[in-house]
Amino acid sequence: MSIDVPGTEGYAESAAALANEWRKISFRDHHRPVLHLIPRAPSRVLDVGAGMGRDAAALAAMGHSVVAVEPVDELRAAAINFYPASNAAWLDDSLPELCLVRAKADTFSTVLVTAVWMHLDEAQRRRGMGAISDLLDAIRPRRGASPKDG
Ligand SMILES: C[S@@+](CC[C@H](N)C(=O)[O-])C[C@H]1O[C@@H](n2cnc3c(N)ncnc32)[C@H](O)[C@@H]1O
Repeated sequence: MSIDVPGTEGYAESAAALANEWRKISFRDHHRPVLHLIPRAPSRVLDVGAGMGRDAAALAAMGHSVVAVEPVDELRAAAINFYPASNAAWLDDSLPELCLVRAKADTFSTVLVTAVWMHLDEAQRRRGMGAISDLLDAIRPRRGASPKDG
């Protein structure tokens, strides 16, 4: 349920229109300034506030193992509708705690939080950054994995 999640106000009501607008922008155009940070080798990638799934689908199509977090039911539904063949795994979870992702005790080489941070206040950003740091391979290597594994 997105109803009590800070930052999601208004998204459910406008989900269909927003999803159609966002879909017009490609993953590459949307992330051009940071494309060099996206791993080339297949990696575990977390997309937080994944919206209607364009980026999660593109990353999965590149061979990455993608977990997409989106608290708004209507946007998760749009993602599954737009990209039915995508291998991205979807979770109804949210910042600042990312409780479900953290409960899975998995870590990621890369975390996207694209156009989401502005929805959190300073205290939530601090907690959210702590939660994200805790999910990074570079900070907390997966058991049995080398930090270089990606
Ligand atoms: C401007 S959209 C960006 C969507 C997508 N990342 C993109 O770049 O196209 C902001 C997204 O953040 C999500 N969001 C808002 N508050 C959130 C929170 N507390 N935790 C996780 N996602 C949140 C919204 O539901 C929405 O999907």
